[in-house]
Formats: sequence, structure tokens, C-alpha cells
Amino acid sequence: MIECRTYEGGAAELARFIQDVWRGSYAGRMPVPLWDERYFDWQLLSERPGGRDYLLVAYDGTRLVGSLLAEGFRFRLHDREVDGSMASWMAVDADYRRKGIGTMLYQEQRRRHVERGAAFSLAFVYLQPGVSLGPVFSSSVAGDTVILGKVGWWARVLDHRAVVGWDVSRRNRLGVSILRALHSGPPLAVGLDGIRGYRPADLPACLALVHGLLARVDLGCVWSPERLAHQLRYEDVPRTLVVEQDGRVGGLVNYYRLDLLGRHPIGAGVIDLLAFGSLPNTTRQRLLLAALAQMREEGMKFALLLRWPAWPSRPLWATGFVPMPRNLSPICFVMDRTVSLARVKRLQVHFR
Ligand SMILES: CC(C)(COP(=O)(O)OP(=O)(O)OC[C@H]1O[C@@H](n2cnc3c(N)ncnc32)[C@H](O)[C@@H]1OP(=O)(O)O)[C@@H](O)C(=O)NCCC(=O)NCCS
Repeated sequence: MIECRTYEGGAAELARFIQDVWRGSYAGRMPVPLWDERYFDWQLLSERPGGRDYLLVAYDGTRLVGSLLAEGFRFRLHDREVDGSMASWMAVDADYRRKGIGTMLYQEQRRRHVERGAAFSLAFVYLQPGVSLGPVFSSSVAGDTVILGKVGWWARVLDHRAVVGWDVSRRNRLGVSILRALHSGPPLAVGLDGIRGYRPADLPACLALVHGLLARVDLGCVWSPERLAHQLRYEDVPRTLVVEQDGRVGGLVNYYRLDLLGRHPIGAGVIDLLAFGSLPNTTRQRLLLAALAQMREEGMKFALLLRWPAWPSRPLWATGFVPMPRNLSPICFVMDRTVSLARVKRLQVHFR
């Protein structure tokens, strides 16, 4: 009998299960994010309020056969705040598909959200027709979903030689070659004046910067001080650089390493948070270039940032980022139908 319950195991088992399912389903057909043990420990399993409420898994006896994992977040939706979650890692063992396990996990997730007064669960689906099962599955719960448009990435290649043969699509490989010829971006040598690693004492300034991002969006995360502190610094997993201006922290960039499997795995630096406050353009560029240089030193081959309309595009173009096709759809599974997402045009959340 298949049983659906809260995940009580460790990060290693979770990473192994999700990587196996995603590799088995998509390797060689589209890029596969290889979220690892360190990532799950950081983002989902380390202690925090309400930590495991939405970590749902399915077992057949002692065998882990399914997962649908989410983290509770508070969101600003237009001018009000609502509780919701950010979900991902929907995975069902290939031997157990089309038996309703995905639906069972979704229904239990729905029940838990309703019980806790959470209005929606936000996730991303990959738009790769004929390959990705995300859209086919989510259309099976169509009455509950609101698709919030499409989004692509800003990508900045840090090592062309490593990236040029990486993508599974011949067209994208060609794109990287053309890009190299046309727009490789400025060199990553940069003056580090005022730029340094994040320290816990920077938290109030960083919180103000991150909350400042909400002014330009219809839907975005309201970070609590504790959750933001964890996002910015946790063991050796996330990296955060800040820049000081007139003795105060005036901007930040926060990223982590994510290996992506194309024709082989390579490391990407995924930027979750970028906040420039009122920094002048030259300082914004310096901060980005410093982060890119650090990523390259750490062995990452390209940098990625979700292409939300609220990011200022000028410093991104100037530092060598280029916009990639819109291949993801943010999708909300609506748990409280009295909350309307119909007017959400500008969204800004981190990738999961
Ligand atoms: C997507 C996934 C989680 C679905 O799990 P599942 O347990 O097989 O899902 P269910 O049995 O509950 O299917 C529910 C409905 O989704 C649709 N569906 C699911 N898989 C499908 C497939 N391969 N082809 C067509 N429709 C499919 C069907 O409408 C199905 O209802 P039906 O079987 O009564 O026709 C699973 O295929 C998987 O792990 N895929 C790889 C990882 C992934 O893509 N995750 C989602 C990322 S957004």
C-alpha cells in the first residue's frame, strides 16, 4: 500500500531520490538541475519554524517512491500579505507512475495548505513540449491552477569552452558559439572597494534592501529576518556579497552552486537575490562583476538569474548577461479560491 506522509529522513536520501527520478526522466532531453544534499539541507531540512509541514513523500513499505516538497512563505500580493508556499521537486519513481501517486501527494499538499490557511503554492513547470511532464500533470488539476505567464533566464557565460558543448540542444550549442563571438561581456577584473562578504550584522540593511524589491512587483516573497539570515549565510552553501556605500550596506547579491546536467554536468551560479537599492549604475556593475569573478574562481561555468521584469536590465547587459528563451512557467496551485491572482503581472521569486 502506498502511504503519503511528512518526510522524516535526511538530505542525502532526498537528493538521491530526486536526482534519480529527474535524470531517469529527462537526461539527454533537457537540462536537469541536480539539487544535491547540501542544497536540500540548506533550503528544506535545517531547523526552522514550520520546517517540515509541506515536505510530503510517498512510501511503498520502506521504499521512497514519490515527493512533493514545499516551503511555507509569506507573500506580498498587491497591497496585502498572504501565506503560501514555494513548491518543487515533484517526483514519482518511474515504476510507480500513472497510479495516482502524484495526485495523492497534490491532494494531501492541498489539504495541509487549507488547514494552515495558506492561499496558494507557487511552482515552476518546464515548457519542453513532448518532454516535460510538468504541464501534463498540472493540467490534470486544471481547475486549481493559475499560470503566471512565462519566464526565462538571464545567463552569463563564465567559461565558454566548458559551456559550448554542454547543452543537449544543437540549436542552443550554436547559440553559445554565436554569443561568444558577439558578446562575451567585460573582463571580470574589478575593483573591490567596499565589496565584501556578508556578515550577520548586515542583516537589517539586507532585509530593507530585499523588502525594497517588493515595491516593483505584484507578487513577491516577504522575507522574515530569520529566513533571510539563513538564505544569506548557511555553512558553505550560499554565497552573499554586499557593497558598502557611505559606510552602509547599499546592495547585495546572493547565489549558490547548482550543477546542471546537459550532455554532462556543469556548475552554475544561480542568483536567488539581487538588490541594488539606490546604488549608481557603476557600483551595480562592480558588484555583479565581483560576484561573477568569485563564481568563476569557485569553478562555476555560467551564472543564471530568473528574468523577472523588475530587475534593472542595464547592469545585466553591461556585465555580459544575455536573455534566454522563456522556458519556464510560474504556476500557482490555488488553495483558497477567494484569493485572486488574476491581476499578477509582475512577479519576483527565487528559483526552485
Ligand atoms: C509528473 C509526475 C510527478 C506524475 O506522477 P504520477 O504519479 O504518474 O501522476 P498521476 O498518476 O497522479 O497522474 C495524474 C494525471 O496527470 C497526467 N499525466 C501524468 N503523467 C502523464 C504522462 N506520462 N502522459 C500523459 N499524462 C500524464 C494524467 O492526466 C494523469 O491522470 P490519468 O493517469 O488518470 O490519465 C511523474 O511523471 C514524474 O515524476 N515525472 C518526472 C519529474 C517531473 O517532471 N516532475 C514535475 C516537474 S514540474
